[in-house]
Amino acid sequence: MAQVVTSHRGPVTGTATKKKKRRPFLLDLYSTSVGKKYVMGATGIMMMGFVLFHMIGNLKMYLGAAHLNEYAKFLENLLVPIAPEGVVLWILRGGLITALALHLHAAYSLTMLNRKARPVKYQSARDYQIANFASRTMRLSGLVVLAFIAWHLADLTFGAVNNETGKMITENGEELKNVYGAVVYSFNRVPVALFYVVANILLGIHLFHGAWSIFQSFGWNNPRFNTWRRAFATGFAALVVIGNVSFPIAVMAGIVK
Ligand code: HEM
Repeated sequence: MAQVVTSHRGPVTGTATKKKKRRPFLLDLYSTSVGKKYVMGATGIMMMGFVLFHMIGNLKMYLGAAHLNEYAKFLENLLVPIAPEGVVLWILRGGLITALALHLHAAYSLTMLNRKARPVKYQSARDYQIANFASRTMRLSGLVVLAFIAWHLADLTFGAVNNETGKMITENGEELKNVYGAVVYSFNRVPVALFYVVANILLGIHLFHGAWSIFQSFGWNNPRFNTWRRAFATGFAALVVIGNVSFPIAVMAGIVK
């Protein structure tokens, strides 16, 4: 017998009639784990761009004090006189701070989602170890990099732990912030230089996993270009680490003084 469908039946519970509040599309997307992975990937790309250009800029220290100090001044003067001095740099800093905050939030909430989705440990020892090796290293390396950034800003931006940061110097008749002097002062302290080396190696591991995962997050996963993915992740991480680690080593070795 055909089933009679009545359209007059009332709701069984109050929840059946409760209207779902509509959230803006981007917030809705962010509430899903795919959305959080997009955010991790996009903010990761922004920060990868920063670390690469920061490293390339810092190579100027091999050309001498005047070059590095003038480079710092150049960053302050971006788009002057269209924009007042320092404004573009502050906009870039704002973008970087936002990217870092979103990256941290997405990482934290993805971890929470993963824990909620799998409160029971994996049964297979092999899967358990492989699945967790990368994520555990990512959290550890991420936290060390975070601690490094805090020290680094206190050291070379605010001068809280560096007597030379912010001091002025006259070069070719121009008054410049002596960024070079501050870097040399910083790395002449061996424990600080060693911390920079260790933190930047961990940054490299973080970048390697991150650069590899970006493709996964955006769904660009095809066996045909997986070799390129690995090559890109390895090359990018190696470039940044070698460049960054060379600075404290060059100061300790007396090449930069
Ligand atoms: C050994 C490697 C590094 C050296 C020699 C170095 C050097 C410097 C110097 C000299 C400054 C101050 C620039 C100025 O006052 O104009 C600075 C700022 C900064 N560095 Fe680094 N840095 C290194 C690695 C890193 C890494 C790996 C990161 C991020 C993970 C980083 C993030 C920053 C940030 C966020 C600032 C503040 C930028 C600003 O507000 O203008 N640095 N760095």
